[in-house]
Amino acid sequence: MKAILINGSPRKKRNTAQMLAAAEEGAKAAGAETEWIHLYDYEFTGCKSCFACKLKNSTTEGICAPRDAARPLLEKAVDADVLIFGSPVYFGYPTGQLRSFLERLLFPNMTYLAGPDGKYLPGARRQIMTGVIYTMNCPEGMMKQLNYPTLLETTAESIDSIFGHSEVLYAYDTYQFGDYARYDITAFSEEHKREWREQQFPRDLEAARQLGMRLVELAREA
Ligand SMILES: Cc1cc2nc3c(=O)[nH]c(=O)nc-3n(C[C@H](O)[C@H](O)[C@H](O)COP(=O)(O)O)c2cc1C
Repeated sequence: MKAILINGSPRKKRNTAQMLAAAEEGAKAAGAETEWIHLYDYEFTGCKSCFACKLKNSTTEGICAPRDAARPLLEKAVDADVLIFGSPVYFGYPTGQLRSFLERLLFPNMTYLAGPDGKYLPGARRQIMTGVIYTMNCPEGMMKQLNYPTLLETTAESIDSIFGHSEVLYAYDTYQFGDYARYDITAFSEEHKREWREQQFPRDLEAARQLGMRLVELAREA
């Protein structure tokens, strides 16, 4: 049983990575082997519309055709039992690096073939249990006002429709800097951020741990 933590944050030790580490703890406790992919360690672009994966008699088999730095990561991803993506929210969306990776992962695993209900027939070789963890500066109320759930859950719905299961977890109001005093900020208070970090973030980490555990258990039952 293999679970991969896919970090879509450029930072390897901060909010998103900490949430992924908690999910990893849960996945390990449920008996999975784990591996990390830090997407910002690799240079690749999103889908370039080559359509090799949509050719008649295509031989791509769910792996995006271009042979670049993303390819070995994509090969690993489609062989995993559980994929847990993490991303900070950047201007209402997952980071560009995660979006590029998802274009490359998802498009070769969907078909342009119409099913009886008019929807595309699924193309993934197998079901993969997936989760998407988002961390953001916004408090919960503001993120709802800004329509983030619709924007962010669209990504999870695409993953769900292709790999069969996706869950979303949010950590709000994150502590962004090591030392707020060094930065030019008046829009939010360091004191509030620190309190939230001390009181709420441990609960967010526990929710991430539960998510990791649940996805591995679901993969085992599938
Ligand atoms: C380029 C950039 C854009 C951001 N845009 C948003 C945003 O639209 N909404 C939000 O709530 N937070 C935004 N943030 C804050 C981060 O999402 C938040 O601090 C996140 O928890 C950082 O994750 P990390 O610690 O893994 O880097 C942005 C941060 C950066 C650097």
